[in-house]
Amino acid sequence: MLLVMLSLAALCGGAVTLEPTIQCGSESGPSPEWMVRHTLTPGDLRDLRVEPVKSSDVMEDYSIFMNISWILRADASIRLLKATKICVTGKSNFQSYSCVRCNYTEAFQTQTRPSGGKWTFFYIGFPVELNTLYFIGAHNIPNANMNEDGPSMAVNFTSPGCLDHIMKYKKKCIEAGSLWDPNITACRKSENMVEVNFTTSPLGNRYMALIQNTTVIGTSYVLKHQNEQTRTSVVVPVTRESEGAVVQLTPYFHTCGNDCIRRKAIVTLCPQAGVPYPRDHSRSVLGGWLPLLLSALLVATWLLAVGIYLTWRHERIKKTSSPTSTLLPPTKVLVVYPLEICFHHTVCYFTEFLQNHCRSEVILEKWQKKKIAEMGPVQWLTTQKKAADRVIFLLSNDVNTMCDGTCGKSEGSACENSQDLFPLAFTLFCSDLRSQTHLHKYVVVYFSEADTRDDYSALGICPTYHLMKDVTAFRKELFHIKQHVPVGRRLQACHNSCSFL
Ligand SMILES: *[C@@H]1O[C@H](CO)[C@@H](O)[C@H](O)[C@H]1NC(C)=O
Ligand SMILES: *[C@@H]1O[C@H](CO)[C@@H](O)[C@H](O)[C@H]1NC(C)=O
Ligand SMILES: *[C@@H]1O[C@H](CO)[C@@H](O)[C@H](O)[C@H]1NC(C)=O
Ligand SMILES: *[C@@H]1O[C@H](CO)[C@@H](O)[C@H](O)[C@H]1NC(C)=O
Ligand SMILES: *[C@@H]1O[C@H](CO)[C@@H](O)[C@H](O)[C@H]1NC(C)=O
Ligand SMILES: *[C@@H]1O[C@H](CO)[C@@H](O)[C@H](O)[C@H]1NC(C)=O
Repeated sequence: MLLVMLSLAALCGGAVTLEPTIQCGSESGPSPEWMVRHTLTPGDLRDLRVEPVKSSDVMEDYSIFMNISWILRADASIRLLKATKICVTGKSNFQSYSCVRCNYTEAFQTQTRPSGGKWTFFYIGFPVELNTLYFIGAHNIPNANMNEDGPSMAVNFTSPGCLDHIMKYKKKCIEAGSLWDPNITACRKSENMVEVNFTTSPLGNRYMALIQNTTVIGTSYVLKHQNEQTRTSVVVPVTRESEGAVVQLTPYFHTCGNDCIRRKAIVTLCPQAGVPYPRDHSRSVLGGWLPLLLSALLVATWLLAVGIYLTWRHERIKKTSSPTSTLLPPTKVLVVYPLEICFHHTVCYFTEFLQNHCRSEVILEKWQKKKIAEMGPVQWLTTQKKAADRVIFLLSNDVNTMCDGTCGKSEGSACENSQDLFPLAFTLFCSDLRSQTHLHKYVVVYFSEADTRDDYSALGICPTYHLMKDVTAFRKELFHIKQHVPVGRRLQACHNSCSFL
């Protein structure tokens, strides 16, 4: 009854009673109210919620903040309420902690809003990082006395990754391709071919299309000459039935290297290939013509074969007569990589790049398992190192990226049964470093930002390339095999990291 009268008074009074609003500021230490003993304290909150919101005020980068909202309990203790304190703990790579205190500008005269609803407030602040678990706790002030368990409320909030409809506006996500819409269409062109169409991004010009059912059944690489937005078509050879399989498109952009956002689509039947006319019908119509048609087909096939043969001969004559002698033999390259690297997304891509764009012959542990088993890893490595013109340490510092499907742990694919020859190769490198032999063979290649791990810091003396940024320099390096790299001065400094092994 009293409540109704109060509400009525508030309504009639209009401008006289001001509705409380909040004023928030950071308060990382304990609230001053802690120091004072209170005989009466307000109750706890009724509800506490968190959602991410986009804010576009600072510069052009969209930042994501928490919208923390809370509802006050409609009971008599609300009259004692002065402020609400909210603290947020974030847990990802490192832990963060900060608090904010929101003072109510007026004392509460009523348990509910004059207009009828519960008292609700919200505060927008606390920047949201990607894939982070947050604990959000809130309590009312004045709080319970020291040594008393004060009422408080807590919720968890796990921020999503770059594919979320709000998080995608973070700068880091945009750079990794979150706003790129490849609009992938993929269809089964024939038993062993899948056609994949997609729109390229201005962020980069290299892509990998990979078809997988339970295992990888085909891959193709796309290299555009310009970074522009065009519709591209690529045919992926597949080793198995592809209808219903998944096509995964991996872009390689400058800022995210091999850890950019990947997109997926389903392989459908191509409209033209998959529509044979009902056979019964065509047979009845074609009936008498069939023998004639068959013989025509036979003649056509024969003509085609002759044509192909003649073209082939012509090409062969042309080839043998052209001066091939100016071509150097391909560069032999041994590629070693730490096991954490996702095989398909990085090693395959790099290997393909070496073979198709750098005229290199690649030696890879993965392809010589039997030999390694026979010779033993050390002997194998030593032999290959001797035979190779170049030994490339392929690194990626973003090792915690998801190694999804393609390098899956489930079906004994690439990652699992590979041996980690990297430490071994590094040891060989160190012994070469000590004896000052073969040092010109070693090259370091990064896909993401270069940041040699401390335990391999000795590699710092090797020429280092960041793909795809340094493509031209890297190719020059490969072709000038005999060029020696000056090492002398830095040798002393890196000796330590080698001798630890
Ligand atoms: C809230 O009130 C406390 C205590 O009166 C005061 O110390 C603090 O500065 C106030 N905060 C804001 C943001 O007004
Ligand atoms: C924050 O959340 C509250 C409660 O859900 C809502 O009323 C308010 O509009 C939200 N603010 C923004 C900027 O989204
Ligand atoms: C928050 O998460 C932690 C750890 O995952 C869990 O122990 C706790 O019960 C969760 N709290 C709430 C309110 O969901
Ligand atoms: C995606 O591609 C298809 C086929 O090229 C086209 O019809 C469709 O409009 C495209 N959608 C968008 C959103 O660009
Ligand atoms: C892909 O593009 C080619 C040429 O633009 C077109 O003929 C074909 O129908 C497209 N295929 C799919 C699956 O969209
Ligand atoms: C996926 O591969 C399995 C085994 O090779 C096969 O039985 C299955 O039909 C394939 N699924 C699709 C959707 O092609």
